[in-house]
Amino acid sequence: MIIAVDGPAASGKGTLARRIASHLHYAYLDTGKIYRAVGHAVLGAGGDPEDLDAALAAARALNAADLANSELASDIAAVAASKVAALEPVRAVLLGFQKDFAASPPCGLGGAVLDGRDIGTVVCPDAEVKLFVTADVEVRARRRHKELLDKGEASIYPRVLKALKDRDARDSNRSAAPLIAAADAIVVDTTAMDPDEAFASAFGYIQKHTD
Ligand code: DC
Repeated sequence: MIIAVDGPAASGKGTLARRIASHLHYAYLDTGKIYRAVGHAVLGAGGDPEDLDAALAAARALNAADLANSELASDIAAVAASKVAALEPVRAVLLGFQKDFAASPPCGLGGAVLDGRDIGTVVCPDAEVKLFVTADVEVRARRRHKELLDKGEASIYPRVLKALKDRDARDSNRSAAPLIAAADAIVVDTTAMDPDEAFASAFGYIQKHTD
């Protein structure tokens, strides 16, 4: 059983995907972390995330332990991730790991939940369940702004909003596996939902769809 969860940044897709995986005792893979790790490695080596050779070298050198780095949560890593993710050869290098995870979830678990931008369209086009989680961009920016303030970080709302819009545009307008809902995905719009409501809505659909 594979559950694909796609959507833009700060839509709530990660929280939702993690919760579905934990509820069903399935494996969970945050594929954004893979791109963040590549972008972070390029920056760490003093390179430019838009430079194909540098990004490709980082993608090829990536190993599972790199995904545990807490620095991957930063907005700097997010922007670098979005840049390396626009490079088709980089995506090609990272595809096999994601497909293998979905096909053979670790620890013999009976299913996998993957979240990202292209899970339902490219990584797992045959997933049994496809969710596209979205929300109004201003609501997403407000959530992200609050999250940063709660962590004690300096945050300026208009800058957070602009950064999200820029990332949405880069992720949606690239030619390689752009952010788009699969034709057979159901849309979960979390604009007016809290995490519990989003989970109830998505889980209700999963139960009906897989009965
Ligand atoms: O989900 P996230 O915010 O951690 O993702 C960071 C960036 O990685 C995102 O802006 C685009 C890229 N990404 C991607 O292109 N494909 C995925 N499946 C996951 C993430």
